[in-house]
Parts: sequence; C-alpha cells; structure tokens
Amino acid sequence: MNPSPAIEVTNLGKTYGAVTAIEDLSLTVQTGEIFGLLGPNGAGKSTTLRILITVLPPSSGTARVLGHDVRTEADTVRSLIGYVPQERAIDRFLTGREHLELLGDLYHLPKHDAKTRIDELLRLVNLEEHADRVAKTYSGGMKRKLDIACGLLPNPNIVFLDEPTLGLDVQSRLRIWDYIRQLRDNGLTIVMTTNYLEEADQLCDRLAIIDHGNIRVTGSPKELKAGLGGDRLSVTIQHSTPEKLAKLSGGVRPLPFVRDIREVRNSLHIRVESPEKSLPAVMEVANHLDCAIDSIEYQRPRLEDVFVTYTGHPFTGEDPIIPKM
Ligand SMILES: Nc1ncnc2c1ncn2[C@@H]1O[C@H](COP(=O)(O)OP(=O)(O)OP(=O)(O)O)[C@@H](O)[C@H]1O
Ligand SMILES: [Mg+2]
Repeated sequence: MNPSPAIEVTNLGKTYGAVTAIEDLSLTVQTGEIFGLLGPNGAGKSTTLRILITVLPPSSGTARVLGHDVRTEADTVRSLIGYVPQERAIDRFLTGREHLELLGDLYHLPKHDAKTRIDELLRLVNLEEHADRVAKTYSGGMKRKLDIACGLLPNPNIVFLDEPTLGLDVQSRLRIWDYIRQLRDNGLTIVMTTNYLEEADQLCDRLAIIDHGNIRVTGSPKELKAGLGGDRLSVTIQHSTPEKLAKLSGGVRPLPFVRDIREVRNSLHIRVESPEKSLPAVMEVANHLDCAIDSIEYQRPRLEDVFVTYTGHPFTGEDPIIPKM
C-alpha cells in the first residue's frame, strides 16, 4: 500500500486584488522526496509555498499538509513544518547561534533541548566555527546555511525551502544541494522552489513546472526529458531561406527515425530516435536537395526543452551554473 501523500493540493487559486498569482493548481508530494516547483520570476512559486505554510489564505481550492487542511487546521500544520523563506532578515547584531536561540524561544523549546538541537544543526550546516560571529558579517552562502538551520530548528517532518540557493556561487550551491539530499536521506520531505533549471534537474526527485500560476507538467527530471521522445538535431543551412528550410524539412520528414520537426528561426530542430543513424541520413538528404549545411548540432533532451515544450516559451530564469561567455 502506498503511504498517504505528504501534501495534496487541489485546484488551488490565489488572487491579490486584480492579480492572479496562481490560477488552478493541483499537485501531490510524496513522503520522503525532494519535490521542486520550477518556474520563472512571477510564476507563483512563493505564493504556493506561503499558502502551504499557512501564512497566506488561498482564494479557492484546498491544500492538505500531512493530512491537515491549511485553512482549518493551520496550527497543526505549523507544528509539523519548517520554512526557509526566499529572503530572511538577518539581524544586525546577533550571532548565528543567537539567531537560532531566539527562534528556539519563539518555538518554546526547552532550553536544554534547544542547546543540543542548535549544536546539531550548526554541525549539519558546517557553521560551528562561525557560530559566535555576528551573522551580518557572514558570506551569502553562510547566511543561507543559517537560514536552513533556522528552518530545521523545530525538527519538522516537512521543510519548505524558497529558492534555497538564489544568488549563491557554485561551490556554496553544491554544498547546499548536499545538505538537502542528506535531509531527504534522513527521512524528511522537502518542498522547494527554484528558478534554476540545473538545480531542478540535479536535485529534485520530482518537479512541477509552474508558469503563470498553473502547473504545466509534473514528473521526475528523467521522465520529463525522456517524455520528449528522443534526442535533438539542430541543422542550420547556408543562405537559409524559409523555402530552403521547408524543402529540407519535407525531405527529412519521411525518414523512419524522425519523430518531430520544427523550424526555429533559420534552423531545423529534428527530434530523432537514434542519433547514430539519423546524423548521416539527414546529411545525405541535405546533399541530395542541394542544401549546404552550415552547422549540425546534436543534443540530448534538456530540462530547458521540457520547459519550452510545455509552456510554449523559452525559460527566462538565469542559470548561473553555466558560465556566460
Ligand atoms: N503581496 C502581493 N500583492 C500583489 N501581487 C503579488 C503579491 N505577491 C505576489 N504578487 C504577484 O503574484 C505573482 C506571483 O508571485 P510569486 O512571488 O508567487 O512568484 P514567484 O514564482 O515566487 O517569483 P520569483 O521567482 O520572482 O520569486 C506575481 O505576478 C507577483 O507580482
Ligand atoms: Mg518567489
């Protein structure tokens, strides 16, 4: 028997006055997985998260966290979860440890339990050495680690992370991915948002692509990429004209391993089953039709292609993992 899901969201909607932040959103998060909401700025990620942690009432639909309704059982939900907001205010004067102690008081943790837990968390996020320094002087990565420790302080069953690595350098990002995996391996359920394709691809067990307040598709990164139906050849021809592209497209289409062809600007994107067979065959057709090839590129399906396929537009989030040349 499947364990009951950690989170069930059904037809959720949220409007801020005239702005529809989320329209009609349904999703299920399984216990013990890293679930990601991937979408560009303004897609509705933080809004969804803030409804799930009960700080924002939905305008329509329902959301249940560990079986409890976020609207009618908000106190119970709050007692079971941890939250790391997109931007946390770090106090000007407090040390890292004092931030955690203050939070321990807010959660009414007994002093002795709080101390043990705080030591544990500082160790987990590798901040022990810096725990007694004023947190304002921390680097971006250290501040984010402190945020994560704060979110974990109440020893939650589910932790919500809003853009856990936003703006961090590659090193810090990889380290935080490791902590998140470690938490999952210790049995925690993790719900996170990201507008980094690479992060969603590498870190999330399953993800939902969210755009304009709607979920476009859900699945594991591997399933989503495989669902596109094959690798892609991008062929650019010399002195390309729409007529030439149409001619080449017409010549390539009947080849048995071709799944789909799109004309994108001055090139053809050909979705193929088998790159070994398709590459020479496409070149032969081009030769035969007198279309001199300028370049031919072969790519495995990427999450970016999944995004374009399901939203109909390119991903506009920045992806600093891939250095810009
Ligand atoms: N308090 C608010 N009042 C009015 N509109 C809001 C409010 N909060 C969010 N919105 C709008 O709702 C939409 C979704 O915002 P949200 O913050 O959920 O997006 P997001 O996916 O988290 O974006 P980002 O990647 O920039 O964090 C946006 O159009 C935003 O301008
Ligand atoms: Mg956000």
